[in-house]
Amino acid sequence: MRNFLNLRDIPVRDLKKILTDAKRRKSMRKKLNNLEVDKGAPLKGKLLIQMFEKSSLRTRLSFYLAIKQLGGSTLTLRPDELHLSKGGESIQDTAKILSNFGNAFMFRTDSDKKLEEFKKNLSIPIINGLSPSSHPTQILSDIFTVEEIKKKSISSLNIAWIGDSNNVLNSLIAASIKFSFKLSIGCPIEYKPSKKIMNYIKSDNNKIHIFHDPKKAVRAADVIFSDKVISMNDKVNKLKKFKKFKKFKINKRLMSYAKKDCIFLHCLPRDKEVDEDVFLSKQSKVWQQALNRVHVQKSILLYCFGKLR
Ligand code: CP
Ligand code: NVA
Repeated sequence: MRNFLNLRDIPVRDLKKILTDAKRRKSMRKKLNNLEVDKGAPLKGKLLIQMFEKSSLRTRLSFYLAIKQLGGSTLTLRPDELHLSKGGESIQDTAKILSNFGNAFMFRTDSDKKLEEFKKNLSIPIINGLSPSSHPTQILSDIFTVEEIKKKSISSLNIAWIGDSNNVLNSLIAASIKFSFKLSIGCPIEYKPSKKIMNYIKSDNNKIHIFHDPKKAVRAADVIFSDKVISMNDKVNKLKKFKKFKKFKINKRLMSYAKKDCIFLHCLPRDKEVDEDVFLSKQSKVWQQALNRVHVQKSILLYCFGKLR
């Protein structure tokens, strides 16, 4: 049994194995409908319990299809309906019950501490479905999408991130260090990564660079990533933050500084950080990106269950 909490804690060999399995599984089910089960039903009889402390559309749907396609089933708990949040039941007791009734736990939380507490007390695998500090299932899936579209290893590509220093960027930074790809970050100076993340970046072999001019960040980029300027539960002065990010908006002009065949990716949901004519352009691969989460999360589940070949 293995957990999937943060990319930085997982050996790159395992991450690559997950991607290879996802590629094979995706190609094998071209003719199957969404709810048809993969040959061999490797997670037959298994129950994935999901819980979301923050909103979710894609993560919720993609884990639902992922476990179903592997032959298992899922149950989504609402945190406001549990004794954990209202009646003061402990994480310890909640985790014991989850472990006795379910076979894996996918948790989207507003607290990294809670994630750690659950991990300590569960005897079933736990998957981080987004926390304040990371969004690992998203970024592993995005690497899959990049390699699928570019037909190259991500380590040979120039990746750019234009946006806030948030959970998604933290996972992209971890991926850059693990997979060894060039990552150029474009953000206002006030919104650069935290000290802790900057120290982590320094441990890298000089592949990550931070720019406060978006044009410099996207120069020669093969892929431009972005995300909302204001994340869920981001308690900031929104107007002030939007103002600082104004010149970091992704528009056709900014895209023109990247490579001609540069693609645009965004984990969604989107806000004002990208122009409609980029978001809906041929260069934008956001729908394919969202759908690929099903495929990669299936292989993440198999990894957690110790069933990756
Ligand atoms: N990208 C992503 O995680 O989307 P949701 O918040 O809708 O799950
Ligand atoms: N950074 C965003 C990602 C949403 C999927 C957030 O945390 O709200």
